[in-house]
Amino acid sequence: MTGRTRACALLLGGTVALLAARVVVHAQAPAAPAAAPAPAGPLKGDPVHGKAISYTCLGCHGISGYKNAYPMYSVPELRGQSPDYLVAALHEYRDGDRSFITMHAQAEELSDQDMADIAAYFAGTPLRPTGKPEGTVPKAATLCVSCHGQDGVAIAPMYPSLAGQHEDYLVRALDEYKRGGRKNPIMTGFAANLSDDDIETIAEYFSRLTPSLGTEPRPWTRLSAE
Ligand code: HEC
Ligand code: HEC
Repeated sequence: MTGRTRACALLLGGTVALLAARVVVHAQAPAAPAAAPAPAGPLKGDPVHGKAISYTCLGCHGISGYKNAYPMYSVPELRGQSPDYLVAALHEYRDGDRSFITMHAQAEELSDQDMADIAAYFAGTPLRPTGKPEGTVPKAATLCVSCHGQDGVAIAPMYPSLAGQHEDYLVRALDEYKRGGRKNPIMTGFAANLSDDDIETIAEYFSRLTPSLGTEPRPWTRLSAE
């Protein structure tokens, strides 16, 4: 090939690529209006308003070691979780995709904007991955770490972090996916194959990881006076 023919060939190649790209664009364009309307982007949360309206929540989520009574297990830690996940969870309680009557009642009172605001406040500074697994990931959790992280810190905002979450709450959550009380399709699939022993091992592993999720700080001290 002479320099000139090579240049021509390159140019031609480029044109073909460009044409191909245009064909693709054109082929896709008409499909767009037929697609379902794009969901509105996540609402931007205002942590100041979130703090102002989260008083009731803190009666449970702001008390370290607080337990749900029947069945008995620890109320989940929310500090350091991603706000996107917290909002998704609240929607699921409200819409009945998670069956838990107290949280259903709580979430029903909240608008979508309230949820975004509380989530922004409760998340605080979301945990950041360390990239360093602690110890050996148990065999039962091999698949899990691809979303929940080797160090228990979620790899994307729509997944919950599990690091330092209460062990008994993790057991409860996995049982719920397994039994169908929680209907999230991704987790229903993963939990279905876990034995009770697997669930114990997994819950113990993630609950010990650091940096860990934490209890919400309580902004008030005069509980009895309010
Ligand atoms: C009476 C105690 C109580 C109150 C009040 C309460 N919660 Fe909860 N919350 C719980 C319990 C228990 C769970 C776990 C339920 C389950 O098993 O799914 C939970 C779960 C959650 C979760 C899901 C956490 C996760 O890791 O998936 C979020 C988010 C949450 N609560 C937010 C709130 C907000 C916001 C409020 C106030 C509007 C609130 N809660 C009020 C007890 C409470
Ligand atoms: C493809 C990504 C993905 C994989 C793999 C995955 N999960 Fe999840 N996990 C999720 C999502 C998404 C949720 C939130 C579901 C919901 O909204 O209820 C979740 C929720 C959970 C929760 C509840 C957390 C909470 O705060 O309530 C636990 C516990 C959990 N996963 C454990 C596991 C375990 C154990 C495995 C492996 C057997 C696993 N996950 C595999 C995506 C994943």
